[in-house]
This record gives sequence, structure tokens and C-alpha cells, in this order.
Amino acid sequence: MKGIILAGGTASRLFPATTVVSKQLLPIYDKPMIYYPLSTLMLSGIREVLLISTPTHIPLFQELLGDGAHLGMSISYQIQEQPKGLAEAFILGKEFINNDPCALVLGDNIFFGHGFSNILKDMSSVTEGAKIFGYYVSNPQEYGVVEFDKDYNVLSLEEKPQTPKSNYAIPGLYFYDNTVVDRALSLTPSLRGELEITDLNNTYLQDKSLKVSLLGRGFAWLDTGTPDFLLEASSFVRTIQHRQNHYIACIEEIAARNKWITSEQLHKLGSAYKTEYGQYIIELCEEI
Ligand code: G1P
Repeated sequence: MKGIILAGGTASRLFPATTVVSKQLLPIYDKPMIYYPLSTLMLSGIREVLLISTPTHIPLFQELLGDGAHLGMSISYQIQEQPKGLAEAFILGKEFINNDPCALVLGDNIFFGHGFSNILKDMSSVTEGAKIFGYYVSNPQEYGVVEFDKDYNVLSLEEKPQTPKSNYAIPGLYFYDNTVVDRALSLTPSLRGELEITDLNNTYLQDKSLKVSLLGRGFAWLDTGTPDFLLEASSFVRTIQHRQNHYIACIEEIAARNKWITSEQLHKLGSAYKTEYGQYIIELCEEI
């Protein structure tokens, strides 16, 4: 399975609207935000990743993540000139996807929870149809919303409905079979001029090939766009890391645990950071 990270968003709720700072390059506690969605793909077992972003930000992501070889991965880059919607990722990524199943994660979506890697492995085994998550929130009208029956059959999907049919938001992490590119090509822009991910998911629903898995109460799916959300997400990560000394979204650790790199390579990567994060990586080398 291939993976796409869509990291187009600017930090418009944090800086003047005219400045184009990428929020995905801002830190969530001790590491860049982009490490979190990248780690989600890595935990799904995905080694080939396409990062889509604006012309301004692609060089910065390239400087940070390179070609991914240091993580035993392949990371390539694609420019999205205008924010024309999440589903455009599959059109831009057509050659990269090349008839394989493909996951999409949004660059500002952070997930954390016990057993998440097993759930991800299950989600990424999709060869037919599509799989999405549902997550209970207090403000569903701000998200895509999924309605389902008692057997978890999806009944409807709506993008930011004024009167939501359920409290279950659809997080920005989606798994698709290899029909996704053709489906994305068949979409027409919504009223806000975007190729909507909800319209794409609706094509699977119409074909009765859309499955939803719920992320339960113990899971954290964090927002990151506002000053409060940034601080809350950072404190959350700091609290868990200090308590357990297990780091969240340590991409070097995941690469080593996935056996994509050796412990010698891991040591070298840790030494490149002159920070506690680097020290954590160096100490890991003894147990991996
Ligand atoms: C997008 C999707 C929405 C989804 C959300 C998750 O919303 O359109 O369906 O629930 O991401 O973060 P946007 O961030 O574009 O408002």
C-alpha cells in the first residue's frame, strides 16, 4: 500500500493571513507536526510516501525529510498549486499510486491510542473498497460526519452539516483500494470549489464498499489549527512522554522497530539531534 500526506494548510489562525507559514512545520511539543501523520503511515506499514504541499513549503519538507532513505523509506514530493480539495491528492498522486491501494492522512491530524498499530495494520489490508474512521466529538458540524446503524453499516456521509445526523466525525485518515484515482477523476468541485473527500467516500458508499471503524473513548484525535489546540496537543504529548518515556511519533524509533533500519543507523540519526529527543533515540539503540 502507498501513502499520501496532504500538508497544504497554512497557519492562518496563528499568523497574519498574508503570511504563508506551514503549520505542519511548527512543533507539537518536541518535534515537527509532520512527524505525527508520517508516523501514522509508518505504523500502518507504509514505506512509500508522497508528500503534497504548496510550492513554498515543498523545499522545507524536503530539507527536513529528504528522500526518506535514512528511515528505510521512499518519500517523494508533489506540488499542489491551489488548495482544490483533499480528493485532488489522488489526481496529483496518480503516477505515484500506479494501481496500488493508497492511504491518505492529513498533515495536521494527530492520533494516539493503545493498540493503534494493530488497528492500522487491519485498515491498511484493504484491497477492495474503502475504510474510514468515526470518532465521537462534541462539534460534529465542523467535520465530515458519518451516520451508521447498530451493525456499523454506513447510512450517510455529510461534509460539515448544519444539523449532523450523528456525533461521529470522520478523522483525516482514509484507506482506499486501487479504484481511488478513477473515482477522484470523476468528481466535480463542490460549492466551495473543492474536490471533497466526502464526495469521494460517497462513491464507495453508493457501491456498498465503504466500511467505518470507530476509534473509542481511549483514543486521542487532536486538532492543531488554533493557539489553544497547539498548546493542548503539545501538553498532551509532553504528559504521556514524561510519564512513560515512550515517545509519540518518533519516526526514527518506528523505522527501527519496523526493521527498516539497523540500530547502528538509528544511533546515527539520534546523534544528529542535539536534543532530548535525540538522546531518547540513542538510548533506544540498546534495546532495539
Ligand atoms: C477535512 C475534511 C473533513 C474531515 C476533516 C478532518 O476538513 O473535509 O471531512 O472531517 O478534514 O480533519 P477541513 O480540514 O478541510 O475543514
